[in-house]
Amino acid sequence: MPSINLIATTTFGLEAVTKRELMDLGYDNFKVENGKVEFEGQIRDIVISNLWLRTAERVLLKMGEFKALSFDELFEKTKALPWEEWIPEDGNFIVEGKSVNSKLYSISDSQRIVEKAIVERLKTKYPVEWFNKSGARYTVEVSLLKDIATLTIDTSGDGLHKRGYRDRAGDAPIKETLAAAMVLLSYWNKDRVLFDPFCGSGTILIEAAMIGKNMAPGIDREFDADKWAKVPKEYWSEEKIKARKAIDHSVKLNLLGCDIDRRSILRARDNAANIGLEEDISFFIKDMRDVDLYDEYGVVITNPPYGERMGEKEEVERLYKDFGQKFKEHDTWSIYAITSNEKFEELYGKKADRKRKLYNGRIKVDFYQYYGPRPDRKEG
Ligand SMILES: C[S@@+](CC[C@H](N)C(=O)[O-])C[C@H]1O[C@@H](n2cnc3c(N)ncnc32)[C@H](O)[C@@H]1O
Repeated sequence: MPSINLIATTTFGLEAVTKRELMDLGYDNFKVENGKVEFEGQIRDIVISNLWLRTAERVLLKMGEFKALSFDELFEKTKALPWEEWIPEDGNFIVEGKSVNSKLYSISDSQRIVEKAIVERLKTKYPVEWFNKSGARYTVEVSLLKDIATLTIDTSGDGLHKRGYRDRAGDAPIKETLAAAMVLLSYWNKDRVLFDPFCGSGTILIEAAMIGKNMAPGIDREFDADKWAKVPKEYWSEEKIKARKAIDHSVKLNLLGCDIDRRSILRARDNAANIGLEEDISFFIKDMRDVDLYDEYGVVITNPPYGERMGEKEEVERLYKDFGQKFKEHDTWSIYAITSNEKFEELYGKKADRKRKLYNGRIKVDFYQYYGPRPDRKEG
């Protein structure tokens, strides 16, 4: 069977984490660029990658890539691509676009040209004058970067961060994909205690629980490509059955989350229950300063308030100082915190072992990593 090219899109800074996930799923041969990891596969890999990738934003099917300096060139080269292999006669195709540093800078014109070219191509295959678009959705994207046009169809539909467990977002929830990346970038594993002292709606702990139990992040949601004629329905049912069987129900996790805000904790409990993980995480209402920790070699992964709103700055600065003070007493713990507050290390009272630049939505943040000693050192 001829292979297809897929692109896992990511937020900037997470390409290497998504590539590692793809390697763990058994793929090789990658092309990594800003915000995307391209890999080869078969049709079934549309299903597997959508179901299993925790840190990717979407999985796109790459239809073609070519230089386009004029609208004529864009039209002809788009029309030469085999759209009918994917889009059926009733396919509801829409075209989105973006353009960066390209001669064809008008996004709306590029979208219009691409749509026209696809219509012309499809007309040569289907005997109709007009497409009623009553069927499944096919979101085509024309992405122009330095005069190179990349044409894709989105297989995911809703962004992959929408796992389906979070129906009521909190005040400042972190994206599920970023939360999963923080866990994957840490040295936490399912045998270690994990504590989120500013847990909000519980995203980081829920993602960790899914990782600890080997639960596919997409197990409870739908995707655009699950309605595509070209992707056999049984691929979806088979891979979902496999994913359900892969969940390790025997794993006993030690996951704790506290928040000072009662509503956040109720929301976190609801979210965990939505995905059947309510037994795996203890959420409690408390100021993190008042939490007693008895374990050693625990891990903190957290997204504290950033103090960006008026009037919050001083309070957050005090909070970071107290946070640092608290974990000074627990020096076997490893601490991972994400924040946009550039004074974090100074306030926390210690320079991080490693700092990584990431994005939380549009906010530029740093992921501060403080590595505690390995648990086995003590035993050794
Ligand atoms: C950026 S939000 C965390 C969002 C969370 N990652 C999520 O996905 O929903 C920060 C949280 O810290 C909580 N918080 C503020 N001060 C606190 C304190 N002293 N102790 C515990 N939680 C606190 C806030 O109520 C808020 O929910």
